[in-house]
Amino acid sequence: MKLGRLNHIGVATPSIADSIVHYREVMGATDITEPFDLPEQGVKVCFVNTPTHSGMDGTQIELIEPLGETSTIRGFLDKNPLGGQHHVCFEVPDIAAARAWFEGQGKRILGPTRIGAHGTPIFFVHPKDMQGMLTEIMETPRDGAH
Ligand code: CO
Repeated sequence: MKLGRLNHIGVATPSIADSIVHYREVMGATDITEPFDLPEQGVKVCFVNTPTHSGMDGTQIELIEPLGETSTIRGFLDKNPLGGQHHVCFEVPDIAAARAWFEGQGKRILGPTRIGAHGTPIFFVHPKDMQGMLTEIMETPRDGAH
């Protein structure tokens, strides 16, 4: 297992539109991507880009709004109506090696490895096995963070 950069922090929100206004007007964000649907994960997503640093892409805030009744983040928003931090996402160079590493330690992986919001393979590790944090592991994009 080779730990890569912190790619993004996933933040659940009842309204991406309202959150975009917040990040623009309160936080001074100037680079926010257009929202798009990820129907297979039951979410609508957009990214708030923080500035680049030392030639690396800045860590992103991934805003996540539920899409459809079976959305995986409905339960989270029921418990946290304002939204809030939902997961953290670290990059790794090799997703299959990382999965085998976590499995070898008995960490519970949630579902199959699948294509995530950045178009690269991802999986999630159970928060109870990860110091209370739902943890997304994502293969480093070959050509930048998008
Ligand atoms: Co994510």
